[in-house]
Amino acid sequence: NVPVVTIDGPSGSGKGTVAALLAKEFDWHLLDSGALYRLTALAAMNHDVDFSDEKSLEVLAGHLDVQFEPGGEGETLKIILEGERVGANLRTEEVGAKASQIAALPGVRKALLQRQQDFAEAPGLVADGRDMGTVVFPQANVKVYLTASAEERAKRRQNQLQQKGIDASFDQLLGDIIARDDRDMNRDVAPLKPADDAIVLDSTRLSIQEVFSRVVDVMRQ
Ligand code: CDP
Repeated sequence: NVPVVTIDGPSGSGKGTVAALLAKEFDWHLLDSGALYRLTALAAMNHDVDFSDEKSLEVLAGHLDVQFEPGGEGETLKIILEGERVGANLRTEEVGAKASQIAALPGVRKALLQRQQDFAEAPGLVADGRDMGTVVFPQANVKVYLTASAEERAKRRQNQLQQKGIDASFDQLLGDIIARDDRDMNRDVAPLKPADDAIVLDSTRLSIQEVFSRVVDVMRQ
């Protein structure tokens, strides 16, 4: 049985960064499950699929033609969707909001389940998402639920954007985060919540390094 560590939490909690650091530290595989929801949303936009057409979105998710390839040294993963490399638009707030919209559809979640579970290969997997510990890998060895106040998460997002030379309004970002939390936590299928056996870490006053060290300690126990 392949060891699995799950890192779940809301948008901007730092889980993606921590998950990537952990995968690197242990030389394990990494599943960015949010990317699959984002890619499904992007494919739907490319093919003009109606976002209220659950059946078509489900078929699209089930047949998603995507490859994850290792990037060059110091580069992030290369993602190829339908033969074309996906760029920075995958990470935009617009695609994130659309991803969260389709992520509320049970058929879409079911269509992506096996694909996510297939990432659990030797020597181990770090899985980042919303329902990694509750639905996709309930048998995981270590489950972490990473959170932070909405204000802190909006501030982090604003700093991130600033580094890219983009000025965004704090109130707008905070509003987006609260709306996405609300949708992710209150949907009927796989709502965002800590697994019963998860370690809950509040990163509001913790650096990425501090969160990373705490999880590594737990993994080595
Ligand atoms: O980067 P950020 O945390 O903002 O978002 P993400 O992890 O890329 O996920 C985008 C959206 O996909 C989330 O708001 C969720 O609605 C959905 N998602 C999900 O439902 N289940 C997952 N395991 C991962 C993402």
